[in-house]
Amino acid sequence: MHQYIKEIADFDGKKATLKGWVANIRESKTNIFIVLRDGTGFVQCVVGLNDVGEEQFEAAKKLNLESSLALTGNVVKDDRQIGGYELQAENIEIYHIAEEYPIAKKTHGEHGVRFLADKRHLWLRSKRQWAIMRVRNQIIMGIHEFFQDRQFIQMDAPIFTGNACEGTTTLFETDFFGEKAFLSQSGQLYGEAMAMAQGLIYTFGPTFRAEKSDTPRHLAEFWMIEPEMAFYDNEMNMDMIEGFIKHVINRVIEKCKVELEALERDIEKLAKVNQEFPRVPYTDAVKILRGEQEVNGRNAITVQEEDLANAQKGIEEKKADIAEREAKIKAGMKKGERRFNEAKIVVMRKEIATLEEQVRNIPKWIESAKSFEGGEDFGGSDETVLTRVFDAPVMVYNWPTKIKAFYMKEVEGDPDHVKGVDLLAPEGYGEIIGGSERETDIEILVRKIKEHDLPMEEFEWYLDLRRFGSVPHAGFGLGLERIVRWCCGLNHLRETIPFPRRYGRLLP
Ligand code: 4AD
Ligand code: MG
Repeated sequence: MHQYIKEIADFDGKKATLKGWVANIRESKTNIFIVLRDGTGFVQCVVGLNDVGEEQFEAAKKLNLESSLALTGNVVKDDRQIGGYELQAENIEIYHIAEEYPIAKKTHGEHGVRFLADKRHLWLRSKRQWAIMRVRNQIIMGIHEFFQDRQFIQMDAPIFTGNACEGTTTLFETDFFGEKAFLSQSGQLYGEAMAMAQGLIYTFGPTFRAEKSDTPRHLAEFWMIEPEMAFYDNEMNMDMIEGFIKHVINRVIEKCKVELEALERDIEKLAKVNQEFPRVPYTDAVKILRGEQEVNGRNAITVQEEDLANAQKGIEEKKADIAEREAKIKAGMKKGERRFNEAKIVVMRKEIATLEEQVRNIPKWIESAKSFEGGEDFGGSDETVLTRVFDAPVMVYNWPTKIKAFYMKEVEGDPDHVKGVDLLAPEGYGEIIGGSERETDIEILVRKIKEHDLPMEEFEWYLDLRRFGSVPHAGFGLGLERIVRWCCGLNHLRETIPFPRRYGRLLP
């Protein structure tokens, strides 16, 4: 038996054996300091010449990044160390001395995204990726917990499908024993069938979209959670969405303190989910976006102009700060102090790059927001501009019929709008959920299937759901990677899934 770093506090003052990999290493004449990682956490281990003897000490000198070993020794409290404990080794057993590790210790920024993506199988070991995958795990657990506690039945929808659920432009075609088949874009239609059998269901599975564009928000293979509720209208659907997101985010805040800290995620911003989510009809959202309607005295365009001014000011300030530090370094500084300042400068340069990107983008966003044509779908920047005036996630509902899927229920007396709802996450993360009340009128459905140029024979089974005990029902789909991105505060979906599949990326 060995112990795990996560439980190290239980071994305070006692002996423990840890097994893991070298995340960092440095040596002095008589001590080797190893930051060990074992998957559950990180801890400093000290291998002292006097404690392990000459032979083991010499062997330990050969250890390098990502070498694997077991260490047995005393656990001592040391508040200066990560996790608050240190292991003082008495015995070590080396499993493997690694080859020269291609990813530098402080991975961030030093390597290009392409290089890291090529090395994804190793990159997953870095602290940041480790933290993201653990947040993802807690999100998954939180999702199951929420639905299971509310009598929902989890169902597995097929991956090979005959029909297009979310439009024909993003279908991956495959050969199914000589027949044309598509990889599922969504389990929803099957979820609707199951909801008529079970009442409340949710799917949790992989979905596929041939998005031929390299954006931070699109993957070709992503995981979707799709609850479907019999006897629900869109109001009830929105209540469910709000409760669901609050539950999942609060669970992450509670269970992932270490991970969120490693990611430098501002928890206060996440905790803003604990207020009522604004519900805005699409037509109002358009006015807000264009700056024609204010939200609590905030105008979307003015807010962008302020953000722009602040970004410009931030760049000036940081540049001045860097110049000052550089002058001081030049004038002479102690080694430790110089290192500290140099590290600060690296961080500030990165922050400047981010701000400069904002300065380049915001004028374009303002232009696009002001000239937004009602009746269209919001683009990524439009979602950013719109959500910026709200603190909490926003639900936009009653969308133009022509931009939404065939199955959405028409608003009574207003066939140009459907009872769809999108949940837009704050801080620029944008759409994470799409949902709707479903059309129950078989005649309208038949007309819509034709209008959308979908093959009627593929939908016969679906129409049966409207022939045998048709009931009002609603549901939604959450993109797992989108909520992971928001929770972790990531720029891109490529880091949210172990092995991303997206345009231009099939390996590793
Ligand atoms: O809005 P979408 O297309 O809705 C549906 O698929 C419905 N059938 C859901 C339902 O009502 N049961 O997709 C739902 C969510 C989006 O809000 C987004 O979070 C995610 O799936 N998503 C993607 N995530 C990553 N990459 C992509 N290419 C995505 N496309 C959609
Ligand atoms: Mg959508």
